[in-house]
Amino acid sequence: MNREIPFLDLVTPHRELQEEFVEVLRKALNSAAFIGGTELEAFEREFATFTGATNCVGVANGTDALRFALMALGVQAGDAVITVANTFIATAEAISQSGARPYFVDIDERTYNMSAAKVREFITTKCHRDASGNVVTSDLGLRVKAVIPVHLYGQMADMDPILAVAEEFGLLVVEDACQAHGAEYFSVKQNAWLRAGSIGHAAAFSFYPGKNLGACGEAGAVTTNSEDVARKIRIIRDHGQAQKYYHDVEGYNGRLDAIQAGFLRVKLRNLAQGNLQRRAAAKRYNELLAETNADVVLPFELVHSKAVYHLYVIRVRNRDEFRERMAEAKVGTAIHYPVPLHLQKAYKHLGYSVGDFPITEAVSAEIVSLPMFPHITEAQIRAVVNHAASVLEGSAAVETLQPVAVS
Ligand SMILES: Cc1ncc(COP(=O)(O)O)c(C=O)c1O
Repeated sequence: MNREIPFLDLVTPHRELQEEFVEVLRKALNSAAFIGGTELEAFEREFATFTGATNCVGVANGTDALRFALMALGVQAGDAVITVANTFIATAEAISQSGARPYFVDIDERTYNMSAAKVREFITTKCHRDASGNVVTSDLGLRVKAVIPVHLYGQMADMDPILAVAEEFGLLVVEDACQAHGAEYFSVKQNAWLRAGSIGHAAAFSFYPGKNLGACGEAGAVTTNSEDVARKIRIIRDHGQAQKYYHDVEGYNGRLDAIQAGFLRVKLRNLAQGNLQRRAAAKRYNELLAETNADVVLPFELVHSKAVYHLYVIRVRNRDEFRERMAEAKVGTAIHYPVPLHLQKAYKHLGYSVGDFPITEAVSAEIVSLPMFPHITEAQIRAVVNHAASVLEGSAAVETLQPVAVS
């Protein structure tokens, strides 16, 4: 029997919550409160509480969240912002669209996240201090204002050393938490487990439907512990106005609508459980793949980190062939991301070339994301592993795997 295993099943969870979603719609239709209002405010309060940040500002999508966070923190034309090249393009788009120039650094080979050592190396070898003591890039003389670590695939970047470098060189830190709703990190410095979104000067979340917390459309949010940053973002998202038709600055139409906020409130109640299910699924993948002879690199979780597995990403040698063979077996896979940003056509003008970020490039040629969603079953995971093993071992499907209880 060969049943299809989708890369992502978005239908089942929405079907299960349909009545609650209909209630949200009914409430909105009966009150005509479509923009702003109590539903939005309640979501903002609840999501801030979930992350541990003191403020949350709902916006139209994750890209707006990143861009507005940078703008509210004062990033502008003439500035430089450091990030990684193995991320969704929105991270860099937000930097360019705030007027700044993105500079990329290489990643940690185990976690695929930003390497604090590479940030330091960039600052100490490619930048210098100007007369006022600000760090500026040596090629273009741009002031290095901020750094954006991306919590890729649901695992937080190693924030203690990143924050230490940022503090040493006077940089602001914006977390790209678009894939990391509920991810946790033990900060030795603060002696506490902290959630994604509570640790930088501001953090951006995407609620694109497939995310761990996904809307039924477009949505995003910024979290921050700064009242001032939150206030500025509320103005930027609403055409630069704090009072209707009195525009203090030129802003955007970047609001989160009330219906999406209502849907998100429903789904937020299920987020912690969904994250636990994802972690359990990742554990099963790890256990079962480790029992095979497949030549594969499993995801690496730092001991002081609790990833929420937005994606379950392995490394294999003949990636394209692997994907083809998995597709033949009706197993959905994806690549996040096939071309690092420094080699994308859109960023050709930044002047990077092949070889600039060896780890990022090596990883991007081998990564493949396996099916991952909260309600993926033991049988589906076993089938994926069996097919993967048969491709990677070049042998028949592994029949010897014994069931192991999911914790
Ligand atoms: C790492 C990362 N950054 C930014 C974004 C942008 O979010 P959105 O698609 O909601 O604009 C996404 C989502 O796709 C993402 O995965």
